[in-house]
Amino acid sequence: MVVRSLIAGCGAYLPARIVSNAELAERVETTDAWIQERTGIRQRHVAAEDEATSDLAVRAAEAALADAGIAAAAVDLIIVATTTPDQTFPATAARVQAKLGVTKGSAFDVQAVCSGFVFALAIADNFIRLGQARTALVIGAETFTRLLDWADRTTCVLFGDGAGAVVLTRGEGKGDTTDRGVLTTHLHTDGAHADILYVDGGPSSTMTVGHVRMLGKEVFKHAVTRLAESVEEALAATGLPASAIDWLVPHQANRRIIDATARRLGLSTERVVLTVDRHANTSAASIPLALAEARADGRIRPGQLVLLEAMGGGLTWGAALVRI
Ligand code: UT7
Repeated sequence: MVVRSLIAGCGAYLPARIVSNAELAERVETTDAWIQERTGIRQRHVAAEDEATSDLAVRAAEAALADAGIAAAAVDLIIVATTTPDQTFPATAARVQAKLGVTKGSAFDVQAVCSGFVFALAIADNFIRLGQARTALVIGAETFTRLLDWADRTTCVLFGDGAGAVVLTRGEGKGDTTDRGVLTTHLHTDGAHADILYVDGGPSSTMTVGHVRMLGKEVFKHAVTRLAESVEEALAATGLPASAIDWLVPHQANRRIIDATARRLGLSTERVVLTVDRHANTSAASIPLALAEARADGRIRPGQLVLLEAMGGGLTWGAALVRI
């Protein structure tokens, strides 16, 4: 028998305010048609002024714990993947821990931008498999719109706010691909390309929060090739063929990138969980938001094989295969 990290529950939270493409077209020179055609985005949620990333994270975490039927008191590891922490420190995860009333174990943030959830999932999986945690909350939470330059049409139309969470518990399996739980994770970073997607501020450089800057076309090209590589790596590590994948739950940056990945895998669009049209790019929150949606509406069922993949600033990228 081997130890496996099981996904015991999923939860999501989206701020109430919805901003349409038409509303953005009143602020910058863009059109609903351009945004939809180039990205697939129709709208995004934007956090209220008094809502911080930890508030979104707590709502998603509470929903995930309720879905799992597990009390917060059982949690001994909280990882928040975020690029938009409440404060430079303490970690947003520490705020979340306190708000949930959790008093044991550890809580920390992971900064891998849009790949953050896959990174956090891999870390939590390692903690559980090594016996260093039994019940983990893995959260992707962002108030990403706070980083936007609302005068820059090349970035301000692309992002939104939200949070998603999963509860990971310690389980056992045979050690083969029929096991439930996290089967394999693959993480990559190539800092040589940091300048094609970054924020032009920070506590030790400009002492400001800064705004997102992106060379979209360059990022797009990297995304298509890097994602394909990490997906192939995950399949090779398990010996599973692409045809075994029941669902692709990708990071939701751009419909065209998602379609390209699905095409390479030979997956029809019915097997892809898409939220980019309604959520836009919520960075580290996009995968757990999509996962929670497809679990809640009954598309993803117990025993099914799910492929998660993401790429973001860093550059960072990665993939995970999980049997739900
Ligand atoms: O989550 C992290 C990872 N991020 C990503 O994966 C994002 C990857 N990149 C992309 O999704 C796409 O590159 C974008 C959606 C950002 C842009 O799409 P594109 O097809 O690469 O367009 P482009 O940047 O080549 O721009 C085409 C034209 C340009 O005008 P010219 O130079 O052809 O006259 C832009 O100035 O579209 C113009 N443009 C816009 N027009 C209307 C750029 N943004 C807008 C806009 N509205 N919002």
